Amino acid sequence: MTKILDFLREEQIDPALVQELARYQAAHPLDGALCSRVPVPRYLYYGREIWEQAIAALLCGENLLLAGGKATGKNVLAENLAMAFGRPSWDISFHVNMDASTLIGMDTFVGGQVVFRPGPVYSCAVSGGFGILDEINMARNEALAVLHATLDFRRSIDVPGYDRIPLAEETRFIATMNYGYAGTRELNEALTSRFVVIQMPPIGEENLKKLLTAQFPGLKAKYADQFARLFLDLQKKCESAEISTRALDLRGMLDAIRLMYRGVPAETALDMGITNKAFDTYEQGLIRDVIHARIPRGLDRTRLFE
Ligand SMILES: Nc1ncnc2c1ncn2[C@@H]1O[C@H](COP(=O)(O)OP(=O)(O)OP(=O)(O)O)[C@@H](O)[C@H]1O
Ligand SMILES: [Mg+2]
Repeated sequence: MTKILDFLREEQIDPALVQELARYQAAHPLDGALCSRVPVPRYLYYGREIWEQAIAALLCGENLLLAGGKATGKNVLAENLAMAFGRPSWDISFHVNMDASTLIGMDTFVGGQVVFRPGPVYSCAVSGGFGILDEINMARNEALAVLHATLDFRRSIDVPGYDRIPLAEETRFIATMNYGYAGTRELNEALTSRFVVIQMPPIGEENLKKLLTAQFPGLKAKYADQFARLFLDLQKKCESAEISTRALDLRGMLDAIRLMYRGVPAETALDMGITNKAFDTYEQGLIRDVIHARIPRGLDRTRLFE
């Protein structure tokens, strides 16, 4: 946990905020079992301004809604934040069949006895955890009404048949939502109003280079550079609507480089990670042109990695 604070210092996050985090961790120690729920993210989030906004909001006691396009690091940031605050986290993935009892919990029979089986929101609330409400706009709004009192000043959960339970002071909720994926809905105003909202920008060139170098220490600087620029080229083509957003997929680019490391030729790997995600052959051609302007044909592992 101190490691992430070092990372934040390196990334030049406002020192006052980093100091507050260190103080926060010291003032809210965790005991035994919960320690294992503090996430150890596989990726670190790069983006100084977003970090600062998110830390400040959580220190103020707010809940956060991270809204943005696919693979903009919403889940990575949510996990990074739980780690930075040193809190256990619960991942709560939303879907259309989600209902209140899945979130809060319900009575079940165990050996003839009625026992309350807590749901993730309940567990999170009593442990002062960070609840990651993933893809919150996939759920039906009616199912989310149960969260209204949890997310506003009442800071409590109503468990049917039991008392109203106050949230532990450290509890925060971080919701993610993605516009435009099939099946996503608008979040209604009442719910949106209970969050502060951060619009997640696509990663910039410098940060992308840092991410590539951290993920692939053997990747030659020259190619880290070319991949970062390729991503920006694709972004530009998307903005001018020459290609669809299907191929603008950072996740796919990272997957492709991983495949290259395993020996798949660069062209094939980029087809698998990026180009083939557009199903239209004309569009695939356009995407390949953008790729070939940056990544020469016939490139393979021996030239990419040292
Ligand atoms: N700013 C960033 N810093 C670090 N990693 C990033 C950043 N932006 C995107 N990524 C990378 O993109 C990939 C996807 O991240 P993540 O799963 O958090 O995205 P998401 O926004 O939740 O996407 P989706 O909406 O598709 O669920 C990860 O490999 C992550 O490392
Ligand atoms: Mg996500």
